[in-house]
Amino acid sequence: MPRGLSSSRRTFLQLSAAAAAFQIMTEPMLAAAARHRPFSKDAVMIDSNENPLGPSQPARDAISAITPLGGRYLDNLTDELIQTFAQQEGLNPDYVRVFPGSTPPLRFTVVAFTSPQKSYVAADPGYEAGPRTAAEGGARVVNVPLTKTYAHDVKGMIAAAPDAGLFYICNPNNPTGTLTPHSDLEYLVENKPKGSVVVVDEAYIHLCDASSALDLVKAGKDVIVLRTFSKAYGMAGLRCGFAVAHPELLDKIMERSGWNFMPITALVAASASLKDPNLVPERKRINASVRQETFQWLDRNGYSYIASESNCFLLDTKRPAKQVIDAMAQQNVFIGRIWPIMPTYSRITVGTQQEMEKFQAALQKVMRGATAFSLPVAPIRNPRRTAELLS
Ligand SMILES: Cc1ncc(COP(=O)(O)O)c(C=O)c1O
Repeated sequence: MPRGLSSSRRTFLQLSAAAAAFQIMTEPMLAAAARHRPFSKDAVMIDSNENPLGPSQPARDAISAITPLGGRYLDNLTDELIQTFAQQEGLNPDYVRVFPGSTPPLRFTVVAFTSPQKSYVAADPGYEAGPRTAAEGGARVVNVPLTKTYAHDVKGMIAAAPDAGLFYICNPNNPTGTLTPHSDLEYLVENKPKGSVVVVDEAYIHLCDASSALDLVKAGKDVIVLRTFSKAYGMAGLRCGFAVAHPELLDKIMERSGWNFMPITALVAASASLKDPNLVPERKRINASVRQETFQWLDRNGYSYIASESNCFLLDTKRPAKQVIDAMAQQNVFIGRIWPIMPTYSRITVGTQQEMEKFQAALQKVMRGATAFSLPVAPIRNPRRTAELLS
């Protein structure tokens, strides 16, 4: 069924409702829950950090080739994917587990390492899936604002939670697309409370020049790196990701997650993607070029935004962003949700050049055109005020 139809939206919202009961929360559910109108034909969908390019040609060919074998479990494909990744990254294969996306390992890591006695510590604004799971288990959720350069405030995070069970670092961060220096990660790992772990979510790492935290895993630190094929590799709908950590940490995650079989289509597409040496550089270049052109256009037209190194950025609408999100949806352009700490900002995903041109045209119409905005224009950083404005 085409994604634009309202039944598709209903399914997402039903899933969101189910997710609320079980506290499983993923980017598409968060995006759908924030949407106020269904997608229609030719909608520009830049609200859920997807990759509009989809899987690479080698990945598509691999899927076609494996389809006749879809009646088989083909366990060896998981091993092959792990071997390929481990070899490329200089890791022991025992340090790698495969999951359908990085959402499941994120959830089970939070379940394993937080509790009413062990808090979940993250940046604000940050990716919302982890705190929801932590709160479900009764853990204290400690949100520490990003620094002035929009990096994780690792010293602030350590100071705020002597009872920390898990520090969540998203590098580059969702929603800001900004980086945290590797030296800060090292500081966190060396100075965190004993027994806690550091999760480094590298969902968007391929799109920027940041160094990975895999070296800390190799050095035997209490670090769990999460990777996904949903972003640069364009496989969000195919579902494949990794948890990478010392086997003792992985065992704690696997105790919670149990074991399930991966779809063979995802496994072969992921292997083919890893073996394609041009894929990551090419997609990184395309994303950076469209992002740069978008930023130049925003600069020329006097809009404010937070410069990002990823496939999303925060646009400051200088008014309660919900008004702009709704007005943009009327123009058939779906932009992303709001984080309560920054209620005048909306997250924009970098789409294709053509999509970003439609975004620009719609934004001009909405911001300069007929739409009247009646609420205050100054940024409001008080979360309680935010709740009122967003309701
Ligand atoms: C920071 C972050 N982590 C994890 C995920 C989960 O992605 P997936 O389950 O598709 O791998 C997302 C999705 O957008 C994300 O933004």
